[in-house]
Amino acid sequence: MAKRRYLIAANWKMNGDQPLVDSMQAAIAETGYSPDEVEVLVCPPATLMANFNDAVEIGGQNFSQYASGAYTGEISANMLLDAGCRYVIVGHSERRELFAEDDSVVAQKFVAAARAGLRPVLCIGETLEQREQGETEAVLAEQLTAVATVSEADDWQQAVVAYEPVWAIGTGKTATPELAQSAHAFIRQWLADQPVTAAVANDLRILYGGSMKPGNAGTLLSQKDIDGGLIGGASLQPDDFTAIINAVSES
Ligand code: PGA
Repeated sequence: MAKRRYLIAANWKMNGDQPLVDSMQAAIAETGYSPDEVEVLVCPPATLMANFNDAVEIGGQNFSQYASGAYTGEISANMLLDAGCRYVIVGHSERRELFAEDDSVVAQKFVAAARAGLRPVLCIGETLEQREQGETEAVLAEQLTAVATVSEADDWQQAVVAYEPVWAIGTGKTATPELAQSAHAFIRQWLADQPVTAAVANDLRILYGGSMKPGNAGTLLSQKDIDGGLIGGASLQPDDFTAIINAVSES
């Protein structure tokens, strides 16, 4: 069976400016990747979303679970759509840790994104302590359960999951391909057993995130259940990000 279409996603976090938009677009234009094989997504700060050409998909890094109204400083799903986004990252560990987004808020956002027609990129992952205690699968199941409890099977049709072990984010430590593959396989099986059919779970893309870079992207992306990457640090370097895009055809 052909592998799912890869998704290589840049999470710029609170970084980036117009010169980076320009240099990134120029570098991506030189990669010559096949859109049948790989989809490229950039999630820039909201202030830069409108500044990209059509060569890449654009996504939000966060949004409000509320539709509109008196929520100073917030951005709704429809506003992201209006700004040209097709995706939005939901439940990134930095949102969970630094902005107190708990499982319940993350679940509300997942549903709000899906029902507005945005594709949620649901981030889940364990801390180092949880991994060392042997709790990885229990933590992933708990984070998925929170979303499954409030969502319908249809909400998952366009969804993407990102396995992002917290201990690997921005630390330079990467999960080994075997360890990441095992977590991805667990997630896919969990989805097939719970909220969605086996066919939907089979089609759903599961990204790896956590210090993905040119040197490790190829082996990670060649794992059976790893369908792309959510890339932070390396996505701010056009050469590194495009090397990861190119790694798809080598994997
Ligand atoms: P990193 O970030 O690639 O810098 O580890 C990944 C992420 O936070 O999505």
